Amino acid sequence: MKILFASSEAAPLIKTGGLADVAGSLPVAMRHIGHDCRLVLPGYPDVMHKAKGLSQVAELKQPSEQKPIKILEGFCEPHDVPLYVVDAPYWFDRPGNPYLSPDGDDWVDNAERFACFCRAIAAIALNQAKLDWQPDIVHTNDWQTGLVAPLLQAAKKRPATLFTIHNLAYQGLFDHDTFVRLNLPSHLWSYEALEFHHQLSYIKGGIALSDRVNTVSPTYAEEIKTAEFGYGLEGLLQHRGSHFSGILNGIDYHVWDPMNDPNIPASFSADDMAGKRLNKLALQKEFGLPEDEHIQLFGYIGRLVDQKGVDLILQVLPGLMDAGVQVVMLGSGNRELEHALEKINMKYHSRVGVKIGYDEGLSHRIEAGCDCFLMPSRFEPCGLNQMYSLRYGTVPVVRRTGGLADTVIDVNPTTMAQGTATGFVFDEADASSLWQALEHAIQFYRRSGTDWEILARTGMEQDLSWEASAQHYVELYQLALDDPGI
Ligand code: ADP
Ligand code: GLC
Repeated sequence: MKILFASSEAAPLIKTGGLADVAGSLPVAMRHIGHDCRLVLPGYPDVMHKAKGLSQVAELKQPSEQKPIKILEGFCEPHDVPLYVVDAPYWFDRPGNPYLSPDGDDWVDNAERFACFCRAIAAIALNQAKLDWQPDIVHTNDWQTGLVAPLLQAAKKRPATLFTIHNLAYQGLFDHDTFVRLNLPSHLWSYEALEFHHQLSYIKGGIALSDRVNTVSPTYAEEIKTAEFGYGLEGLLQHRGSHFSGILNGIDYHVWDPMNDPNIPASFSADDMAGKRLNKLALQKEFGLPEDEHIQLFGYIGRLVDQKGVDLILQVLPGLMDAGVQVVMLGSGNRELEHALEKINMKYHSRVGVKIGYDEGLSHRIEAGCDCFLMPSRFEPCGLNQMYSLRYGTVPVVRRTGGLADTVIDVNPTTMAQGTATGFVFDEADASSLWQALEHAIQFYRRSGTDWEILARTGMEQDLSWEASAQHYVELYQLALDDPGI
């Protein structure tokens, strides 16, 4: 199959979160199993600088664009995935984050920026860019690509479309004036297409008008069909019936491999965990904490946003301090949460280490060096960090939601006897439930014998690779081709 994989970020070129990890690894997995998968990205400065062998292959005139935009073709090391870059400097040649201006607010023209991206994707999909390559499938991801299916819907010879929801909380909502300004076909202003409570909704376009829709875990697929998690889109998701499903993400086993990770001081594996001890001591040193392998070390990595439940971690922190454990945290995002973390860092500097910012190497060292990973998310479409934790023998403490529920098996007498337990799971999104799970994790760590090691090793032995999930995507592509859903 020829697959055009469209994403607003992809590791290692440009990354703000897990979408980039998926866009950087699923196309690779697709090519391994024999499909011609190609990636298309906006031409942000990082992409233009880091991509290899870029050269212009097409020029497109778009409505409401003064100058033609260019399509460049190249690739991204270390893989051979062909890459198309939408080179529209007016929209994408900006410093920093793909979605936010330096003051932390959304770029005011995000609607225009991603409409330009979507139009370019649609042009490639319909062979209007004359690239000598037309996909059978266009796989779009999140709201930034939500206009692609609506733009393709009416075309005669169009590829099949799949829209993947990585996070329903980000929807790409704009006003009606924006819809008019974008010069979109007027029939798309309908409750069956882009109109959502008198607003323009990019994500609704992807959900309503793609042949198939999926999200990144089976549990999140069920959750977003309810009012609690659906943001008003639950009815539409229910309406898509069997055309909407959940496929669990995989992780990149080359980038996240404790036996072969250039970011960590010592290698280790499920068979030989000795190196993990050294990573722990090195991590304690890096954060200026007492270097002691017997002190239980908890880690957090992630965007500092409401979704992740960082406020719950802050609430249980005094208890963790009384229990004599250490905590290291890496994240950036919400200014208030950043300040709150800086404050606790000052207050508990001998037991807590905080780094505000984005640091890929440190994220690997935290996964490698900690005993436990904290992920008390309020909702979590899939979550990759708990999977990286499992692979690095770092026992996750998670809330039973979304992909966390699908990837971590709670420690209890039955799961321990069966040898299936991989972490500590709690139900309610409140500090007392999190604390109960943490107390359990702390007691369990202090048990004599090898229970903790068995737990960590069971996590390391899970198959979290893309192999199975990539095959599920192939099946979904085939369904979309054989039986278009719209
Ligand atoms: P989300 O996509 O909601 O942010 P995921 O768990 O799916 O959550 O993926 C987050 C990805 O971003 C992981 O690869 C994680 O390591 C990375 N990440 C998040 N924040 C940081 C940070 N401050 N520094 C380095 N990596 C980070
Ligand atoms: C989103 C979700 C996260 C998921 C990631 C990749 O950003 O918040 O749970 O793992 O996308 O699919």
